[in-house]
Amino acid sequence: MIQNNPLSLDDIQGELETKRLGTRFHYFQEIDSTNRYARRLAEAGAPEGEVVIAEYQSGGRGRLGRNWFSPPYCNLYFSLLLRPALAPVHAPQITLTAAVALADTVAAFVAEPPAIKWPNDILLQGKKLAGILTESSCDAKHIEFVILGIGVNLNFPRERMPESIRDRATSLMEVGAQGVSRENFLRRLIQDLDRCYGVLEDFGFDAIAPRWEARFGLKGKTVRVEMGGDVLIGQAVGIDHDGALLVEDDRGERQRVVAGDVTAIEE
Ligand code: BTN
Repeated sequence: MIQNNPLSLDDIQGELETKRLGTRFHYFQEIDSTNRYARRLAEAGAPEGEVVIAEYQSGGRGRLGRNWFSPPYCNLYFSLLLRPALAPVHAPQITLTAAVALADTVAAFVAEPPAIKWPNDILLQGKKLAGILTESSCDAKHIEFVILGIGVNLNFPRERMPESIRDRATSLMEVGAQGVSRENFLRRLIQDLDRCYGVLEDFGFDAIAPRWEARFGLKGKTVRVEMGGDVLIGQAVGIDHDGALLVEDDRGERQRVVAGDVTAIEE
């Protein structure tokens, strides 16, 4: 069943149990990008916890300058405004923490265990279900704000996916979870994000990293990492304290990857 109903904010907010996130919702039928709007809010001084959510994005953005295909009513596209008390060097921890929360939420709706593909893709059966785009503004010592943008494919049938992503993307519907309520999913996700974000702030990234690694689908596998024009091939080991991917090259040396595209090499 394809849901074509607008989101009910009353349903989401009525039962939302969070400490910091979801304090206010800015809802749009259509927007260019929720991340872009959330950035404007942040620059105008909006407080932490506000959510920008849209039924449809005409210019949804993905990592590495890609687009995020955002058809109306079937999926979720939203951005959260965060003002974490972290040093700028630790900003990537926010993204990895969000990936843990997102994977936990997905696991509550499907039997199939979700995997995290570094840094923050959520995969089901090897295909991409959800992505996270974080954008931050920092000075030398402080993070001013982080915009945490999340897109999740829920009731999105394969035949509606553009051909360019059809073989690589999936949705909850495609793995057998039919007609999941977008309100229930979003409420649960904001609660999981709130909880994980609280753990990060109270106990530090050491309390999150093992949970991330437990869902890391490529641990121990031979991977190919594309970084701009450079390619690194080696064995994926895990992540370090700053969220960099550690890859052991063919000389047995550990390389830190801070940005790039990682794929498993079939052996
Ligand atoms: C990726 O995996 O490339 C990240 C995708 C992030 C998409 C979300 S949808 C809501 C928010 N607004 C955007 O323009 N992008 C993010």
